[in-house]
Amino acid sequence: MKKRVLLAGAALAAMTVAGAMTVSAEEDLITVGFAQVGHESDWRTASTQSCQDVFTAENGYELVFVDCDNDSAVQLEAVRNFIEQDVDYIIIDPIVSTGWDTVLTECEDAGIPVIVIDRTIDDSDKYVSWVGSNFKTEGLAAGEWLKAYADAKGIEELNILVIEGSTGASATIGRTEGFKEIADKYGWTILDSQTGDFTQDGGQEVMESYCKSYEGQFNVVVCQNDNEAFGAMDAMTAAGVSYGVDGDVILISFDACTAGLQYVQAGDINADFECNPLAAPFVEEVIQQLEAGEEPEKEVYMEEHWFVYDDTVPSITVDGTEMEMTVVTDEIVEAQY
Ligand code: AHR
Repeated sequence: MKKRVLLAGAALAAMTVAGAMTVSAEEDLITVGFAQVGHESDWRTASTQSCQDVFTAENGYELVFVDCDNDSAVQLEAVRNFIEQDVDYIIIDPIVSTGWDTVLTECEDAGIPVIVIDRTIDDSDKYVSWVGSNFKTEGLAAGEWLKAYADAKGIEELNILVIEGSTGASATIGRTEGFKEIADKYGWTILDSQTGDFTQDGGQEVMESYCKSYEGQFNVVVCQNDNEAFGAMDAMTAAGVSYGVDGDVILISFDACTAGLQYVQAGDINADFECNPLAAPFVEEVIQQLEAGEEPEKEVYMEEHWFVYDDTVPSITVDGTEMEMTVVTDEIVEAQY
């Protein structure tokens, strides 16, 4: 499966200087095409970095990276270009969860194994392995934490605004479904749920409009990623709405990137449900198993934690499993992505 790639110039020099090379200058490199969603969030930056750190020439790889700028047509074209270039493996983080069977059949026909990361593909199983997060569990966890927190604080009525992620993304679908399931279970009111496209600008724009339309009517805001939460905080501050542990509005977020956790530690975000972007080492494991003729797991779940400001709610039970809530400390922030 490996293609022969001759290293020259800077790459060769760098390897020689490093002195710890795992491939020689003339050894085969494994070519990996990665069709990344885009660059919309801190999470996405960390995901890209994770692949760039792992799939290096020093580690025996040549990475062909495409930032698809959240455009599904660009992503399909990127995959087709990888087929044309005859790469050894294709990694896809699918912008949307449907519309994949034709192009995955083309990959299969070309004999190129596909590894899906992060978001899921829901209308085809023509990929070797998926490495990512259970988004519905994240949504369920946010809901169960909110229930326990509201009970502990004596808050009886919850009027909730949701800022969703990008439409059609499995991360959006799962978090929305999970949280709504809990909202329905406890009879909460979801006043509105609109997309902020997983961006800071999107979160700010939606929150500005919510602050006007629902002035004085809401006491919970759920942002489906940290960058949306950053934008929502700016909009609430500008509108004179207080949020966080000492505010009138409980603010919930997902991702738990470094900046997100800093806001949790400061008490501005009440709870942040981690989505772990560092999938590349697990993807490499899958590739190495395939290289060795072994059959990798079809699904690999990333390890994730739920973060809070304090221990008001020490643990929650999601789908029958008790999960500890982690109070953010300096060490945790420093170690985060
Ligand atoms: O698919 C993962 C989601 O996409 C992350 O929550 C978000 O930050 C990213 O843009």
